[in-house]
Amino acid sequence: MSVQERRWEKTNTSARPFLWNICRTSKERKYYSSKKSIISLALYGISEMVGKHLNYLKFWNVTYYENNSHQRPTKQLRVSGRTGMLFLYTPSFLVAFTSLLFFSNGDIRVLLLKYALALHFFKRIFEVLFVHRFSGQMVVDSAIVISLTYFSSTATMIYTQHLTQVLQGPPIDLKYIGVLLFLTGICGNFYHHYLLSQLRGKGEKEYKIPKGGLFGLVIGPHYLFKIIAFVRVSFISQTVYAFCFTIGTLFYLMGRSYATRRWYLSKFEDFPQHVKALLPYVF
Ligand SMILES: NC(=O)c1ccc[n+]([C@@H]2O[C@H](COP(=O)([O-])OP(=O)(O)OC[C@H]3O[C@@H](n4cnc5c(N)ncnc54)[C@H](OP(=O)(O)O)[C@@H]3O)[C@@H](O)[C@H]2O)c1
Repeated sequence: MSVQERRWEKTNTSARPFLWNICRTSKERKYYSSKKSIISLALYGISEMVGKHLNYLKFWNVTYYENNSHQRPTKQLRVSGRTGMLFLYTPSFLVAFTSLLFFSNGDIRVLLLKYALALHFFKRIFEVLFVHRFSGQMVVDSAIVISLTYFSSTATMIYTQHLTQVLQGPPIDLKYIGVLLFLTGICGNFYHHYLLSQLRGKGEKEYKIPKGGLFGLVIGPHYLFKIIAFVRVSFISQTVYAFCFTIGTLFYLMGRSYATRRWYLSKFEDFPQHVKALLPYVF
């Protein structure tokens, strides 16, 4: 433990840094925090902002149009949007679900985390199968990167949670606030996915300006609710790893929503200027 950490350990709760109070002991903070999650996801967010997209759904071939005006990348392996999206979420769902089935021992926090993750990925699979109306494709390279990121972060989050069980609990307990945020995040995200799906009739493939819900204020309300859902996961978990992953996701979705707004502005002349990217009236 560093001199500074010893000093914080002796001070009262309010004088310590926020993360110190809401996460477990120094061992957990030291070994399981992941700066890598923040940095790698933030870099993906910056890539999205500068036009280098992960190639799926509406951006599946944008790099080609924007940067390679003459040469289509013929060698890129592609799958349909639906197949690609299923590939993104199924491994993570299986990790969370099998850990619930076969490692059901654990304190309430471990169980809540596993249920939250399993439900989240189940919801995404359900939406991919029954709600979304896809037109785009997915480049297999992008699908592998995203699927591995989800898979490894889900497994690490659950593993970390098991390890922290033997440690003293965090001084401020956020898990029940996390459960409340769960409902807000999951319902808001689902509702805006449903609104997107209603933009197209059966067999239609074109893009339209989204309407209803928070789409009148931001172009990525489903991303906003996704962030709320991830905040919920980190509140239930209260490990530094989960907080780092949430901050990384925030950075990535900021980049993706910024790129989405720019894409709408370039595609629709009548796109309302006041509609922001992610945060109403602000960003
Ligand atoms: N954890 C993370 O880091 C992360 C990152 C990105 C996304 N996500 C999750 O994935 C969800 C979906 O986001 P996404 O970026 O992957 O997809 P998206 O571009 O928002 O598209 C979702 C669905 O809506 C359709 N759609 C989108 N815009 C449309 C329009 N203007 N008109 C008609 N249909 C439209 C898409 O069809 P097409 O197939 O034709 O595009 C697709 O079927 C998010 O809400 C979030 O939950 C998570």
